[in-house]
Amino acid sequence: MAFAAEVAHRLKTLGVDPDDLRPFFYSDVGTDSTETGAHELDLCLKNGALSLLDQKSGQVLAVDFNSPAWRHRAAGHVRGEQLVKAVFGRHKPGHGPLQVTDATAGLGRDAWLLALAGAQVIACERHPVVFALLSDGVQRAAAEPALAETASRLRLLQGDFTGLCPLSEPADVIYLDPMFPPRQKSAKVKKDMQLLHHLLGAGQDDADAMLRTALTQPVGKVVVKRPRLAEPLAGRRPTSQVTGKASRFDVYAAGPV
Ligand SMILES: C[S@@+](CC[C@H](N)C(=O)[O-])C[C@H]1O[C@@H](n2cnc3c(N)ncnc32)[C@H](O)[C@@H]1O
Repeated sequence: MAFAAEVAHRLKTLGVDPDDLRPFFYSDVGTDSTETGAHELDLCLKNGALSLLDQKSGQVLAVDFNSPAWRHRAAGHVRGEQLVKAVFGRHKPGHGPLQVTDATAGLGRDAWLLALAGAQVIACERHPVVFALLSDGVQRAAAEPALAETASRLRLLQGDFTGLCPLSEPADVIYLDPMFPPRQKSAKVKKDMQLLHHLLGAGQDDADAMLRTALTQPVGKVVVKRPRLAEPLAGRRPTSQVTGKASRFDVYAAGPV
């Protein structure tokens, strides 16, 4: 089996080779090429968006920065959001746009929020399927007049953050949001995040190593998102913290590990 022609075409317009994504969805069994859906997942186009489909539940996951929820959030006090407070700190708009490297872009929610707040964001994502979903969301946002300016502040890189270091472009801040550990896989975890966990497997990031690498880069600080009560990454105490209801942001003034 292969992707539907419209899906394959969309992937190509995103610069993604469908053959690179195929192994995440279809596995060839035996020599007669009988095929099974590896994760019961597939890619489809839904309302014009490249979407991850759970064939069992019918649930779909796509990146949509033009959704009512995003429009509502964007119209609110973005600078008051905890992520933005932790990443921007005392940055003054007069000093030019804050340059942020988001090392773990995922579905781009945090990267988009930072871009909405005025940051210039380079977002790295290593998983090819997640990267394709995010690229599609950003490409559609760029075509929306109301979102085009924000989209222009967001640049995507496919690859492993650690492998992309040393960073070829300067950054003021490196932001890390590793997958939360598996015990977070509760009813409280949003359905779309469950679908993402299904695809990625939860808690498989080498988050400690990512922090160590980030702290060796020539940046002003590193910000890490953690579950509110979790131990700090790599056992390193942060310089300061911004704590919310479910999560917390550990802020490290960068320097040698
Ligand atoms: C919790 S999600 C990030 C969610 C994201 N902050 C958002 O707002 O949508 C973690 C993501 O980091 C990616 N990731 C993990 N380790 C990585 C690495 N070393 N380099 C690049 N991406 C990585 C995973 O594939 C996953 O998509």
